[in-house]
Amino acid sequence: MTGDHTTSGEPRPDGGATGADDVALDPWGSSSVSDYEKLFEEFGIEEFDELLPDVPNPHYLMRRGVIFGHRDYRPVLEAMRNDEPFAVLSGFMPTGDPHIGHKLVFDEIIWHQQQGGDAYALIADLEAHAARGLSWAEIDEHSRSYLLSLLALGFDLEEGTLYRQSENRELQDLAFELGAQANFSEFASIYGFDGETDASHIQSVVTQMADICYPQLEEPKPTVIPVGPDQDPHIRLARDLAGRMRYFGVTTAYASFEADPAELEVIAAAYDAREEYAEDPDLPRCVEAAEWLAAEGTDDETTASAIETLENAGMEPLRPRTRFLDRRATDEAFEGLIDAIDGEKRVFEEHIDAFELTRGEAEELAREVELEYGGYGFLPPSSIYHRFMTGLTGGKMSSSIPASHISLLDDPEDGYQKVKSATTGGRETAEKQRELGGKADECPVYELYAYLLAGDDDEFAKLVYDECVGGERLCGDCKEQAAQLMKSFLEDHQEKREEVEELLEAAEIELESPRR
Ligand code: TRP
Ligand code: SF4
Repeated sequence: MTGDHTTSGEPRPDGGATGADDVALDPWGSSSVSDYEKLFEEFGIEEFDELLPDVPNPHYLMRRGVIFGHRDYRPVLEAMRNDEPFAVLSGFMPTGDPHIGHKLVFDEIIWHQQQGGDAYALIADLEAHAARGLSWAEIDEHSRSYLLSLLALGFDLEEGTLYRQSENRELQDLAFELGAQANFSEFASIYGFDGETDASHIQSVVTQMADICYPQLEEPKPTVIPVGPDQDPHIRLARDLAGRMRYFGVTTAYASFEADPAELEVIAAAYDAREEYAEDPDLPRCVEAAEWLAAEGTDDETTASAIETLENAGMEPLRPRTRFLDRRATDEAFEGLIDAIDGEKRVFEEHIDAFELTRGEAEELAREVELEYGGYGFLPPSSIYHRFMTGLTGGKMSSSIPASHISLLDDPEDGYQKVKSATTGGRETAEKQRELGGKADECPVYELYAYLLAGDDDEFAKLVYDECVGGERLCGDCKEQAAQLMKSFLEDHQEKREEVEELLEAAEIELESPRR
């Protein structure tokens, strides 16, 4: 099983799938992950659990480990806690009916909105048309349905923003700008695009990059994108592109040369030890630091290259400074930055060294100047990742296998039946179940409780789990209870969908595409 990083006996459902091969993240492939651990090790997704104690009123999907990973979510939390602006955005490809998997993302958007975030939900109609070949009529029908469910679940239209990619001119302009920062080889290596890939598909990726940066168009702010891990390649590219749009880079330096972060660490240590070797500790020389490092005798590669760099700099003094690199700044912006830097500074062709600014102050200043001179000043977007639900028939949940998933539009009676017919983690016989307990961790029905049916009630989720693994709960009754809950959830949700219809009609989003 894949939930091995689980601590204590907390109910922690996981994807259920075992037998991991290589994990590949493909935004247009199958939505399943065989081994979540690999996402941490191979892709550098960070564990959500480590942040959990710092989340104010965490959502139950966070508490139950359904939201298992993130990239750089801390700035969003900070903003949330300090009542500063932040945003949440996610997008939906209108390829079918919304189902209980989409509900996870709807809930994530709504929760962030309730925590004070600017909330955005978009319809990825360009992507659905380009990558999945749906007609505009189909897209319109599905889009409306996604939006009804989103509103029915509590999205606040007054405070939030809805748009469809095809109708958002500002978005297209931003996509165009971002597209100028990436080239085809990059797409080929990230997405496996090749000579057969059509240009609209590429354009839909660039559009998604713009979606992800869109909440920051007015002003830069921490922004979280809740998605499944299959979307992580998009997140990584968007983080890169947001960085490439910046006017200035900010780094730390010790002399005129550039060094990578590892070398900088070695050089910083040498600087800190200057009393030990410098003839004048107020003015340690690069070559003195090089000699001292050599005498210390650490002979790893980083130290060796740091020594070489320092030797080459010779008698140049070693002195910490923050450095602004000119990346994409206009001449006016570069001049503007020079003026804006307080205290001692030195101006070079393509960079400026400042001696009286901390790194943090420098980053803030770089962003301010960039904004003043017409740049975006993007912060790298953050993400959170949720687990994929296991299909009710075992295996993955797939929209092409109706019995494997529950659509939010399913007739409540059908929903009831699907749960009743679901695969379980139960034993062959009731006796065995009483003796050994059920395998809740591998049970799609338990997943339904944890992801949806238990709602905010942790005690109930835990009760089901404990009773199951303790052998007190038998699958027949357990499924009956789940099926009833599912039925009332669907009834209730569908009633709410009807109630919000007028709201949706009045919303600013275009419900009918002029395209054919
Ligand atoms: N590509 C996403 C999907 O396959 C949809 C999407 C479009 C999206 N733009 C987005 C998701 C921006 C998150 C953020 O469903
Ligand atoms: Fe799944 Fe319930 Fe059976 Fe446990 S008792 S295996 S949770 S259906």
